[in-house]
Amino acid sequence: MKVKKAVIPAAGLGTRFLPATKTVPKELLPIVDVPSLFYVVEDAVHAGIEDIVIVAGRGKTAIEDFFDTSYELQDLLVKTGKEAMAKRLDQIQNMANIISIRQKQAKGLGHAVYAARPAVGNEPFAVLLGDEVMLPTKEGAPSVTKQLSDIFAQKGESTVAVMKVHEDDVSKYGIVAIENEQSPMKVTEVIEKPSRGSAPSQWALPGRYVFTSRLFALLKDLPPGKNGEIQLTDAMTAIARSEGLWATPFVARRYDAGDKFGYLQANIEQGLLHPEIGPRLKEYLKILSQSL
Ligand code: G1P
Repeated sequence: MKVKKAVIPAAGLGTRFLPATKTVPKELLPIVDVPSLFYVVEDAVHAGIEDIVIVAGRGKTAIEDFFDTSYELQDLLVKTGKEAMAKRLDQIQNMANIISIRQKQAKGLGHAVYAARPAVGNEPFAVLLGDEVMLPTKEGAPSVTKQLSDIFAQKGESTVAVMKVHEDDVSKYGIVAIENEQSPMKVTEVIEKPSRGSAPSQWALPGRYVFTSRLFALLKDLPPGKNGEIQLTDAMTAIARSEGLWATPFVARRYDAGDKFGYLQANIEQGLLHPEIGPRLKEYLKILSQSL
């Protein structure tokens, strides 16, 4: 079955990025000249997804505006001979159907995903975390959502991306327990941020998932889990035990853009690849590293 819908939870307060995120949603902080959320939407669109449900909280209306038309701006760009940029903005507003849903209370990631149920219905859907940026390693390579959708099409069961992390880092992620090490790996349980000694593996969830709509039914009756929140990972354990769940390592350059270091890494690497500023930045970094 084809995956045509995606949910992007973007309701977090972005406390790791204060004071910048007091007024600017963390998902709109730029990687060079493009908001990180653009890359997340693109990841879904490159998998053939048509409808994107963004679940946001208060103070995040700028997200909707980013994917909307700005007549005045378009008009000004055309009149001042900046047609290329006018075209680029046009492409952004037409890249997908963006559906906005408001999460009125912050009760956890599982709760945010559940808020998208009326817009998704009884179809399989992808979930992409709004502050995790995953870029293809080379032009034209399949996006992470596409890699997951392909396995979902083969297996007909929910499929999630995993990456191997250092044992000191298992407590930062949802960690999967698996039956076999060969991809796709069959998942038996998912534990939210286990301590170093109690992690069932070092395979962590970086925030790309494809689920059957059964996930909603499981989320509906889920009691609060770790930190008193409705955890997506608890619903994943339930789906692993009922329908089945698969995990696969992915190929992409991944940045945790919600973290200061990850955000700077993304900016430096994308800056180096940027046709306009790349060569200058490379030279600058070389000189800088010699003088420090
Ligand atoms: C969330 C999820 C966790 C996942 C992580 C990826 O945690 O709950 O399972 O591994 O995102 O970034 P958060 O980072 O929002 O605390």
